[in-house]
Amino acid sequence: MKTSFPKKDIRIVLLEGIHSSALEAFRAAGYDHIERHDKALPREQLFDAISDAHIVGLRSRTQLDAEAIAHTRRLLAVGCFCIGTNQVDLHHARELGVPVFNAPYSNTRSVAELVIAEAILLMRRVPERNAECHRGGWAKSAEGSFEVRGKTIGIVGYGHIGTQVGVLAESLGMHVLFHDVEAKLAMGNAAPAQDLGDLLARSDIVTLHVPQTRETAGMIGANEIARMRRGAMLINASRGNVVDIGALATALRDAHLAGAAVDVFPKEPKSREEEFVSPLRDFDNVLLTPHVGGSTQEAQLNIGTEVASKLVRYSDNGSTLSAVNFPEVNLPEHKGSRRLLHIHHNVPGVLSRINEVFSKSGVNINGQHLQTDGDLGYVVIDVSAPEEQSEDLREQLAAIPGTVRTRLLY
Ligand code: NAI
Repeated sequence: MKTSFPKKDIRIVLLEGIHSSALEAFRAAGYDHIERHDKALPREQLFDAISDAHIVGLRSRTQLDAEAIAHTRRLLAVGCFCIGTNQVDLHHARELGVPVFNAPYSNTRSVAELVIAEAILLMRRVPERNAECHRGGWAKSAEGSFEVRGKTIGIVGYGHIGTQVGVLAESLGMHVLFHDVEAKLAMGNAAPAQDLGDLLARSDIVTLHVPQTRETAGMIGANEIARMRRGAMLINASRGNVVDIGALATALRDAHLAGAAVDVFPKEPKSREEEFVSPLRDFDNVLLTPHVGGSTQEAQLNIGTEVASKLVRYSDNGSTLSAVNFPEVNLPEHKGSRRLLHIHHNVPGVLSRINEVFSKSGVNINGQHLQTDGDLGYVVIDVSAPEEQSEDLREQLAAIPGTVRTRLLY
């Protein structure tokens, strides 16, 4: 397989109506060979479309499993233009030396804005007033309505989204408390709570921004809700299994909590056709949204740019920073050098064989980068050598037992 070629020959296939910002990013970097599809393709058409592609971009509806990957002949890298990467057989891609990239943080602001909007709406009792108006009611009253100014928002998980929520909340005059398992630098006047229980007891609104881990599964159950203030509100736009929905429904029925906003659920419909089933549908004072916390046009645009840029960087320069299935190497530019990429099984002897190739060749090595990740190793070597000699070196590297793939970047 010839893997070293100029970028004009690199074929990019973008599926599922990926935002035009991706196209612009590829074109700006000199990649013109781009095929775009508006929808996810049926399997046979997909196999056909990706057979010659060097780079495949997809979203959540395309299953790039081992069978689909087997239909690719030149695949260099995969871009998931979304957050999740379950739709790609990451292990198989890795075994073939194919890094997979995604955009985990492009929608941070979108989630943070929704959470702030929900905090205000819940404090003003808008969900139930809105529902009553829709039914012809007119519950004109200040009863139970509050400004958010001066209230305390408790942020559980003070990461990308949590910190943004804190900054926005503070600009509205809220007090910000946070709890995280890691020591975190507080933004503005935000203050760390002593622990989760302390945060729950001191907050008027609790908002969850933790990842899905073994520790966060069910982390807000009946005991935790009982520790929240009577009349407090709960917002969950993190992951569906973080909150025990049954316990939340009980607390709402008992009026221990005055309201909630939930965007993520333990069981979510797979399509628009499937009914959304949840005990929370019974409550007017619960804002329900279909996992759209990060779904905005801006987020789509950011995702397009972010993932395309990562793919361009890998293709142009070999950098794998933030690849989800691959040793991460953040490389400087290689102006004035040719760059050899060597992806290999991380077994004893490969590195010494690589070094042997170079010591025998007598070429000048300008830089060498190595990263291993479990069973996979990635070495990048910058050399001063003419094109033909560099290609010869690449062939020698490719012949080393344990090699998965090699490339030469001009
Ligand atoms: P992040 O990784 O930047 O932050 C998560 C924070 O939670 C980290 O600071 C981490 O140390 C902390 N953490 C981990 N385990 C914890 C625990 N047991 N207790 C307290 N803190 C803990 O993640 P990011 O980007 O802020 O996302 C947060 C959540 O939001 C994720 O679950 C993500 O899947 C979800 N999300 C939801 C979206 C939606 O559409 N509703 C869109 C984007 C993200």
